[in-house]
Amino acid sequence: MSDYRLIYVSKRDESLNLQEILDIIESSEMHNKEDHLTGMLLYSKNAFMQVLEGDLLQINQTYQRICKDPRHSDIILLSFQMIEHRMFSDWLMKLYDVLQMKMDDRIFDLSEQSPYYPFPINSDSAFEILMMAKYVSQGNV
Ligand SMILES: Cc1cc2nc3c(=O)[nH]c(=O)nc-3n(C[C@H](O)[C@H](O)[C@H](O)COP(=O)(O)O)c2cc1C
Repeated sequence: MSDYRLIYVSKRDESLNLQEILDIIESSEMHNKEDHLTGMLLYSKNAFMQVLEGDLLQINQTYQRICKDPRHSDIILLSFQMIEHRMFSDWLMKLYDVLQMKMDDRIFDLSEQSPYYPFPINSDSAFEILMMAKYVSQGNV
């Protein structure tokens, strides 16, 4: 059975602190292990970008739950597609602070007005950012 990859961006609830984000990761890891899902969650001061990889129906079910979660809002689905192989299989859900990354305005949306700053509403750039975050997290850069 083929795997799928889903990527979305959302607005982070302004009152959500780092400990509360870590709580999301803890419960996500538990669920994702059961559902054989893997991925990454990037965050900035006001937004999230997440990638989920795994079975089509498991991703879809999880995404439906995530969409109803009041800890973020205005979720925009950037891509949901069949993949040859997983690129984020190392983690049940890896958290990464995107503001730690060197940002390039060819990929990131660096306009201060962007409600999803610094995430672009563009699936190719989103994937590029996630891949950069993956390599940084693995200590390859
Ligand atoms: C930004 C964000 C990312 C999330 N990622 C996941 C995830 O990868 N997997 C998951 O099961 N739940 C994830 N959640 C949590 C779900 O929305 C939901 O709260 C949870 O799956 C329900 O688990 P519970 O009933 O055990 O609390 C995420 C929530 C937010 C706000």
